[in-house]
Amino acid sequence: MTIMNMKRLLIFFAGVLSICTLNSSVSAQDNTSEEIEKYRELLADGNPAELWELTGEELWYREAGPKNKTLETCDLGKGPGVVEGAYVEMPRYFSDVDKVMDLEQRLIYCRMMIQGLSREQATERPFGSAGNSSDIEALVAYVTGQSRGMKIAVVVGHEKEKRMYEMGKRFFYFRAGSHDFGCVTCHSGENKRIRLQELPNFMNVEQARKSYGSWPAYRVSQGEVRSMQHRLYDCLRQQRFPEAIYGTDLLTAISLYLAKSANGGTYDAPAMKR
Ligand code: HEC
Repeated sequence: MTIMNMKRLLIFFAGVLSICTLNSSVSAQDNTSEEIEKYRELLADGNPAELWELTGEELWYREAGPKNKTLETCDLGKGPGVVEGAYVEMPRYFSDVDKVMDLEQRLIYCRMMIQGLSREQATERPFGSAGNSSDIEALVAYVTGQSRGMKIAVVVGHEKEKRMYEMGKRFFYFRAGSHDFGCVTCHSGENKRIRLQELPNFMNVEQARKSYGSWPAYRVSQGEVRSMQHRLYDCLRQQRFPEAIYGTDLLTAISLYLAKSANGGTYDAPAMKR
Protein backbone atom coordinates (compact mmCIF):
# COMPACT_ATOMS: atom_id res chain seq x y z
CA MET A 1 0.00 0.00 0.00
CA THR A 2 1.45 3.36 -0.95
CA ILE A 3 1.69 6.14 1.62
CA MET A 4 -0.94 8.11 -0.26
CA ASN A 5 -3.39 5.20 -0.18
CA MET A 6 -2.74 4.67 3.50
CA LYS A 7 -3.37 8.32 4.17
CA ARG A 8 -6.61 8.12 2.23
CA LEU A 9 -7.75 5.13 4.22
CA LEU A 10 -7.01 6.89 7.48
CA ILE A 11 -8.84 10.02 6.43
CA PHE A 12 -11.73 7.91 5.23
CA PHE A 13 -12.10 6.18 8.58
CA ALA A 14 -11.78 9.44 10.45
CA GLY A 15 -14.58 10.74 8.23
CA VAL A 16 -16.86 7.73 8.72
CA LEU A 17 -16.34 7.84 12.46
CA SER A 18 -17.11 11.50 12.68
CA ILE A 19 -20.21 11.24 10.56
CA CYS A 20 -21.61 8.35 12.64
CA THR A 21 -21.00 10.20 15.88
CA LEU A 22 -22.31 13.38 14.40
CA ASN A 23 -25.55 11.82 13.20
CA SER A 24 -26.37 10.27 16.56
CA SER A 25 -25.59 13.38 18.52
CA VAL A 26 -27.50 15.62 16.16
CA SER A 27 -30.70 13.68 16.76
CA ALA A 28 -30.10 13.97 20.50
CA GLN A 29 -29.22 17.62 20.47
CA ASP A 30 -30.79 20.70 19.13
CA ASN A 31 -27.76 22.83 18.77
CA THR A 32 -26.52 21.62 15.43
CA SER A 33 -24.08 24.40 14.70
CA GLU A 34 -22.36 24.02 18.05
CA GLU A 35 -22.02 20.30 17.44
CA ILE A 36 -20.61 20.84 13.97
CA GLU A 37 -18.14 23.33 15.39
CA LYS A 38 -16.99 20.73 17.92
CA TYR A 39 -16.45 18.07 15.28
CA ARG A 40 -14.77 20.52 13.01
CA GLU A 41 -12.24 21.12 15.75
CA LEU A 42 -11.85 17.41 16.40
CA LEU A 43 -11.34 16.76 12.73
CA ALA A 44 -9.15 19.76 12.07
CA ASP A 45 -6.46 17.41 10.79
CA GLY A 46 -8.74 14.94 9.08
CA ASN A 47 -11.50 16.62 7.10
CA PRO A 48 -12.78 14.10 4.51
CA ALA A 49 -12.37 16.92 1.94
CA GLU A 50 -8.71 15.91 1.93
CA LEU A 51 -9.70 12.90 -0.14
CA TRP A 52 -11.11 15.21 -2.80
CA GLU A 53 -7.95 17.30 -2.68
CA LEU A 54 -5.81 14.23 -3.28
CA THR A 55 -8.02 13.02 -6.12
CA GLY A 56 -7.98 16.51 -7.63
CA GLU A 57 -4.20 16.61 -7.46
CA GLU A 58 -4.03 13.30 -9.30
CA LEU A 59 -6.42 14.61 -11.96
CA TRP A 60 -4.36 17.78 -12.35
CA TYR A 61 -1.25 15.74 -13.19
CA ARG A 62 -3.02 13.03 -15.21
CA GLU A 63 -2.96 13.06 -19.01
CA ALA A 64 -6.55 13.25 -20.21
CA GLY A 65 -8.89 14.27 -23.02
CA PRO A 66 -8.44 13.96 -26.79
CA LYS A 67 -5.13 15.83 -26.56
CA ASN A 68 -3.92 13.57 -23.77
CA LYS A 69 -2.47 16.42 -21.73
CA THR A 70 -2.18 17.18 -18.02
CA LEU A 71 -3.43 20.49 -16.61
CA GLU A 72 0.06 21.54 -15.60
CA THR A 73 0.12 24.39 -18.11
CA CYS A 74 -3.24 25.77 -17.00
CA ASP A 75 -2.89 29.44 -16.05
CA LEU A 76 -5.08 30.26 -13.07
CA GLY A 77 -3.93 33.85 -13.09
CA LYS A 78 -0.48 33.58 -11.56
CA GLY A 79 1.23 32.04 -14.58
CA PRO A 80 1.02 28.62 -16.22
CA GLY A 81 0.95 25.82 -13.68
CA VAL A 82 0.94 28.03 -10.57
CA VAL A 83 -1.72 26.66 -8.27
CA GLU A 84 -0.47 27.93 -4.93
CA GLY A 85 -2.30 31.09 -3.91
CA ALA A 86 -4.31 31.25 -7.14
CA TYR A 87 -7.75 30.87 -5.59
CA VAL A 88 -7.59 33.76 -3.13
CA GLU A 89 -7.19 36.11 -6.12
CA MET A 90 -10.18 34.72 -8.03
CA PRO A 91 -12.51 35.57 -9.69
CA ARG A 92 -10.19 37.72 -11.83
CA TYR A 93 -9.69 39.13 -15.29
CA PHE A 94 -7.91 36.91 -17.81
CA SER A 95 -6.49 38.73 -20.82
CA ASP A 96 -6.33 35.59 -23.01
CA VAL A 97 -10.14 35.43 -23.00
CA ASP A 98 -10.73 39.14 -22.23
CA LYS A 99 -13.12 38.07 -19.51
CA VAL A 100 -13.48 37.73 -15.75
CA MET A 101 -13.63 34.10 -14.68
CA ASP A 102 -14.10 32.26 -11.44
CA LEU A 103 -12.13 29.10 -10.73
CA GLU A 104 -14.75 26.78 -12.14
CA GLN A 105 -15.06 28.68 -15.41
CA ARG A 106 -11.28 28.73 -15.70
CA LEU A 107 -11.07 24.99 -15.16
CA ILE A 108 -13.66 24.44 -17.90
CA TYR A 109 -11.57 26.67 -20.16
CA CYS A 110 -8.30 24.85 -19.39
CA ARG A 111 -9.84 21.43 -19.89
CA MET A 112 -11.21 22.55 -23.26
CA MET A 113 -8.11 24.37 -24.51
CA ILE A 114 -5.39 22.16 -23.09
CA GLN A 115 -7.01 18.75 -22.96
CA GLY A 116 -9.29 19.21 -25.96
CA LEU A 117 -12.60 18.42 -24.25
CA SER A 118 -15.81 19.88 -25.64
CA ARG A 119 -17.78 22.25 -23.40
CA GLU A 120 -20.33 19.47 -22.86
CA GLN A 121 -17.59 17.11 -21.73
CA ALA A 122 -15.90 19.71 -19.52
CA THR A 123 -19.16 20.59 -17.76
CA GLU A 124 -20.61 17.12 -17.60
CA ARG A 125 -21.70 16.32 -14.07
CA PRO A 126 -20.37 19.39 -12.28
CA PHE A 127 -21.84 18.12 -9.02
CA GLY A 128 -21.31 14.62 -7.76
CA SER A 129 -23.71 12.40 -5.90
CA ALA A 130 -22.85 10.21 -2.92
CA GLY A 131 -20.44 7.50 -4.05
CA ASN A 132 -20.14 9.05 -7.50
CA SER A 133 -18.06 12.17 -7.05
CA SER A 134 -17.38 14.58 -9.87
CA ASP A 135 -13.94 15.37 -11.28
CA ILE A 136 -14.77 19.06 -11.17
CA GLU A 137 -15.35 19.11 -7.44
CA ALA A 138 -12.10 17.19 -6.92
CA LEU A 139 -10.14 19.66 -9.06
CA VAL A 140 -11.76 22.57 -7.22
CA ALA A 141 -10.85 21.00 -3.88
CA TYR A 142 -7.24 20.58 -4.97
CA VAL A 143 -6.81 24.11 -6.28
CA THR A 144 -8.56 25.82 -3.38
CA GLY A 145 -6.62 23.74 -0.86
CA GLN A 146 -3.45 25.33 -2.28
CA SER A 147 -4.64 28.71 -0.95
CA ARG A 148 -5.41 27.55 2.58
CA GLY A 149 -4.10 29.94 5.19
CA MET A 150 -3.62 32.82 2.75
CA LYS A 151 -5.35 36.18 2.76
CA ILE A 152 -8.33 36.64 0.46
CA ALA A 153 -7.11 39.27 -1.98
CA VAL A 154 -9.29 39.80 -5.02
CA VAL A 155 -8.65 42.92 -7.04
CA VAL A 156 -11.41 44.90 -8.68
CA GLY A 157 -9.26 47.03 -10.95
CA HIS A 158 -9.77 46.16 -14.60
CA GLU A 159 -12.82 47.68 -16.28
CA LYS A 160 -14.33 44.22 -16.74
CA GLU A 161 -13.72 43.35 -13.10
CA LYS A 162 -15.51 46.52 -12.07
CA ARG A 163 -18.45 45.70 -14.29
CA MET A 164 -18.60 42.12 -13.02
CA TYR A 165 -18.45 43.32 -9.41
CA GLU A 166 -21.26 45.82 -9.98
CA MET A 167 -23.38 43.13 -11.58
CA GLY A 168 -22.81 40.82 -8.58
CA LYS A 169 -23.59 43.57 -6.13
CA ARG A 170 -26.75 44.55 -7.95
CA PHE A 171 -27.85 40.96 -8.07
CA PHE A 172 -27.26 40.56 -4.34
CA TYR A 173 -29.90 43.22 -3.70
CA PHE A 174 -32.21 42.22 -6.54
CA ARG A 175 -35.50 40.80 -5.29
CA ALA A 176 -37.93 38.93 -7.47
CA GLY A 177 -39.81 35.69 -7.93
CA SER A 178 -42.81 34.16 -6.22
CA HIS A 179 -41.56 35.17 -2.74
CA ASP A 180 -39.87 38.44 -3.70
CA PHE A 181 -36.60 37.06 -2.31
CA GLY A 182 -33.11 38.33 -2.98
CA CYS A 183 -29.81 37.23 -1.41
CA VAL A 184 -30.26 40.25 0.81
CA THR A 185 -33.49 38.81 2.27
CA CYS A 186 -31.68 35.93 3.92
CA HIS A 187 -28.12 37.24 4.16
CA SER A 188 -28.29 40.64 5.79
CA GLY A 189 -29.16 41.49 9.35
CA GLU A 190 -27.87 39.68 12.41
CA ASN A 191 -28.89 36.31 13.78
CA LYS A 192 -31.17 35.18 10.99
CA ARG A 193 -31.94 31.50 10.89
CA ILE A 194 -33.84 29.03 8.74
CA ARG A 195 -34.72 26.13 10.99
CA LEU A 196 -31.41 25.47 12.73
CA GLN A 197 -29.16 26.97 10.09
CA GLU A 198 -27.54 30.25 10.86
CA LEU A 199 -27.52 32.62 7.90
CA PRO A 200 -24.32 34.58 7.48
CA ASN A 201 -24.75 38.31 7.17
CA PHE A 202 -22.60 39.49 4.25
CA MET A 203 -22.96 43.10 5.34
CA ASN A 204 -20.80 42.19 8.32
CA VAL A 205 -17.19 41.95 7.19
CA GLU A 206 -16.18 39.34 9.77
CA GLN A 207 -19.05 37.07 8.80
CA ALA A 208 -18.41 37.61 5.09
CA ARG A 209 -14.76 36.62 5.58
CA LYS A 210 -15.57 33.57 7.63
CA SER A 211 -18.29 32.46 5.27
CA TYR A 212 -16.62 33.06 1.92
CA GLY A 213 -13.36 31.72 3.32
CA SER A 214 -14.98 28.40 4.18
CA TRP A 215 -16.04 27.36 0.67
CA PRO A 216 -15.79 24.87 -0.97
CA ALA A 217 -16.75 22.53 1.84
CA TYR A 218 -17.26 18.89 2.59
CA ARG A 219 -20.95 18.66 3.42
CA VAL A 220 -21.60 16.00 6.00
CA SER A 221 -25.28 15.87 5.01
CA GLN A 222 -24.41 15.18 1.37
CA GLY A 223 -21.21 13.17 1.74
CA GLU A 224 -19.65 15.35 -0.95
CA VAL A 225 -17.37 18.32 -1.35
CA ARG A 226 -19.44 21.16 -2.74
CA SER A 227 -18.01 24.04 -4.74
CA MET A 228 -18.98 27.71 -4.57
CA GLN A 229 -21.01 27.29 -7.75
CA HIS A 230 -23.01 24.57 -6.05
CA ARG A 231 -23.55 26.72 -2.94
CA LEU A 232 -24.91 29.58 -5.05
CA TYR A 233 -26.92 27.25 -7.26
CA ASP A 234 -28.58 25.91 -4.11
CA CYS A 235 -29.27 29.39 -2.72
CA LEU A 236 -30.88 30.47 -5.99
CA ARG A 237 -33.10 27.42 -5.69
CA GLN A 238 -34.06 28.51 -2.16
CA GLN A 239 -34.67 31.94 -3.59
CA ARG A 240 -37.20 30.37 -6.02
CA PHE A 241 -35.24 31.67 -8.98
CA PRO A 242 -34.80 29.76 -12.25
CA GLU A 243 -32.15 27.07 -12.07
CA ALA A 244 -28.68 28.48 -12.60
CA ILE A 245 -26.68 27.14 -15.53
CA TYR A 246 -23.36 25.70 -14.44
CA GLY A 247 -20.48 28.05 -15.14
CA THR A 248 -22.65 31.05 -15.96
CA ASP A 249 -21.22 34.57 -15.62
CA LEU A 250 -23.94 35.46 -13.16
CA LEU A 251 -22.50 33.09 -10.56
CA THR A 252 -19.03 34.52 -11.23
CA ALA A 253 -20.39 38.01 -10.66
CA ILE A 254 -21.93 37.03 -7.32
CA SER A 255 -18.73 35.22 -6.31
CA LEU A 256 -16.67 38.30 -7.10
CA TYR A 257 -19.00 40.43 -4.98
CA LEU A 258 -18.77 37.97 -2.07
CA ALA A 259 -15.00 37.58 -2.45
CA LYS A 260 -14.49 41.33 -2.40
CA SER A 261 -16.64 41.59 0.74
CA ALA A 262 -14.34 39.00 2.31
CA ASN A 263 -11.04 40.61 1.27
CA GLY A 264 -8.41 40.55 3.99
CA GLY A 265 -9.89 37.48 5.67
CA THR A 266 -7.92 34.27 6.00
CA TYR A 267 -8.94 31.61 3.54
CA ASP A 268 -9.61 28.36 5.35
CA ALA A 269 -11.08 25.80 2.96
CA PRO A 270 -12.03 23.23 1.79
CA ALA A 271 -13.86 23.23 5.11
CA MET A 272 -16.46 20.95 6.63
CA LYS A 273 -20.14 21.83 6.97
CA ARG A 274 -23.44 20.40 7.96
C1 HEC B 1 -34.44 31.84 1.25
C2 HEC B 1 -33.22 32.18 1.92
C3 HEC B 1 -31.96 32.29 1.14
C4 HEC B 1 -31.72 33.09 0.05
C5 HEC B 1 -32.69 33.96 -0.68
C6 HEC B 1 -30.31 32.94 -0.23
N1 HEC B 1 -29.72 32.09 0.63
FE1 HEC B 1 -27.73 31.72 0.82
N2 HEC B 1 -28.10 30.42 2.33
C7 HEC B 1 -29.35 30.10 2.80
C8 HEC B 1 -29.24 28.98 3.72
C9 HEC B 1 -30.37 28.31 4.46
C10 HEC B 1 -27.86 28.68 3.79
C11 HEC B 1 -27.21 27.56 4.56
C12 HEC B 1 -26.78 27.91 5.90
C13 HEC B 1 -26.13 26.69 6.51
O1 HEC B 1 -26.25 25.59 5.99
O2 HEC B 1 -25.46 26.87 7.52
C14 HEC B 1 -27.18 29.61 2.92
C15 HEC B 1 -25.81 29.65 2.75
C16 HEC B 1 -25.15 30.52 1.92
C17 HEC B 1 -23.70 30.62 1.79
C18 HEC B 1 -22.70 29.81 2.58
C19 HEC B 1 -22.60 30.32 3.98
C20 HEC B 1 -21.61 29.58 4.85
O3 HEC B 1 -20.99 30.24 5.68
O4 HEC B 1 -21.45 28.38 4.70
C21 HEC B 1 -23.45 31.57 0.87
C22 HEC B 1 -22.09 32.03 0.39
C23 HEC B 1 -24.73 32.07 0.41
N3 HEC B 1 -25.73 31.42 1.08
C24 HEC B 1 -24.89 33.05 -0.55
C25 HEC B 1 -26.13 33.44 -1.05
C26 HEC B 1 -26.29 34.35 -2.17
C27 HEC B 1 -25.15 35.02 -2.89
C28 HEC B 1 -27.62 34.46 -2.40
C29 HEC B 1 -28.31 35.19 -3.53
C30 HEC B 1 -28.00 34.72 -4.85
C31 HEC B 1 -28.30 33.67 -1.41
N4 HEC B 1 -27.37 33.04 -0.63
C32 HEC B 1 -29.67 33.59 -1.28
C33 HEC B 1 -30.53 30.74 2.50
C34 HEC B 1 -30.70 31.64 1.47
